[in-house]
This record gives sequence, structure tokens and C-alpha cells, in this order.
Amino acid sequence: KEPQPLNLKDYISEVPDFPKPGILFYDISTLIRSAEAWQVATGRLARIISAWQPDLLAGIESRGFLTAAPLAQRLGCGFTMLRKPGKLPGKTISLKYGLEYGEDELHIQADAIKPGQRVVVLDDLLATGGTLAASIDLLRKVGAEVVGASVLIELAGLKGRDKLDVPLNALITYED
Ligand code: PRP
Ligand code: MG
Repeated sequence: KEPQPLNLKDYISEVPDFPKPGILFYDISTLIRSAEAWQVATGRLARIISAWQPDLLAGIESRGFLTAAPLAQRLGCGFTMLRKPGKLPGKTISLKYGLEYGEDELHIQADAIKPGQRVVVLDDLLATGGTLAASIDLLRKVGAEVVGASVLIELAGLKGRDKLDVPLNALITYED
């Protein structure tokens, strides 16, 4: 139980013109450096994610690792990494996906998932949804049953949620 209700938005810094002019960057650094707020955030995530009864949590490089690794330990799940090219040893399966400008690529180890394992995928932020949608496709390619997706922040105006065909939970939502 939380000692007092806490508004997580108060712990997100809004940084204008980062990383480029015109972009408003929502920085979670101030959330994770507060022991109290981080405890509350991970507690809320644990409640939501445990309801999906996952066997394994998948974190998207790099800020997705921040929530996926501690929650996996807390929920008694395994943890697996979705990484940028050239980072994972052994045989990997990959998927390219479109960004606003150019494209990106994620990899997973080919043997990361046992067939039919229930997997929840985690990232820090949902914007256009391209990263999370590609991650879900990639997890399915290696045999996962993707049972949910979790982010700290959703930029709802970009409608990334509409690209996903699994339940999505966001702790913090900005309407535009
Ligand atoms: C950011 C963020 C999400 C993604 C969301 O990652 O961490 O992973 O963008 O955007 P989308 O919903 O439009 O796909 P970024 O690609 O900047 O890389 P990083 O996490 O390694 O900094
Ligand atoms: Mg990212």
C-alpha cells in the first residue's frame, strides 16, 4: 500500500528543444532519482504486470531495461533484452522498423523464449508506437505469447496505442 497518493507527473522533467529544436522531451531521470517516487512507480507496475501472469519480461534498449529488470526480479520472472544491432552474441533474430526519419532495428537472441511463454514487453515511453509494435512482432517471431505492454509515459496524441494489438498500460499520460 502506498503511504500517500503521489502524482508521478510531478517527477517528470519537461525539457524543451531536446534532442532537437521543437521537440519537448519528457525526462524520467528526475523520477528514478527519487527513492520514494521510484518505489511508488515500480509498485504500481508490479500490480498491473503481475495480473497478466507473465513468465518473462522483455525490456527494450535502453530505458526499457530500467523497469523490466527490477520488475522481473520482483515478480519472479525471467528477463530478456531487445537490443540495437551488434550487441547480442550468438544467433539473433531481427526486425527493422520505420522511424519519423530513417529506420531502426532491434534484435533478440533466437533462443530467448521457450515456445508459448507469456511475455510482457516494457519501454519507458510510447510515442508513435513503432518501437513497441516492432518489439511485439519480434517477440512473436521467436515464439512468445505477448500478453501485455507497459510504459511509464504515453504520448496519447500520437495514437501509438492504435498500433498495438495487446493490452497496454501507461503510468503517466500526456494528451498531446
Ligand atoms: C525512444 C523511447 C522509445 C521510443 C518511442 O527511444 O525510449 O523506445 O523512442 O518512440 P516510438 O513510440 O515513436 O517508437 P529511442 O529510439 O530514442 O532510443 P533510446 O531509448 O535508445 O534512447
Ligand atoms: Mg527507447
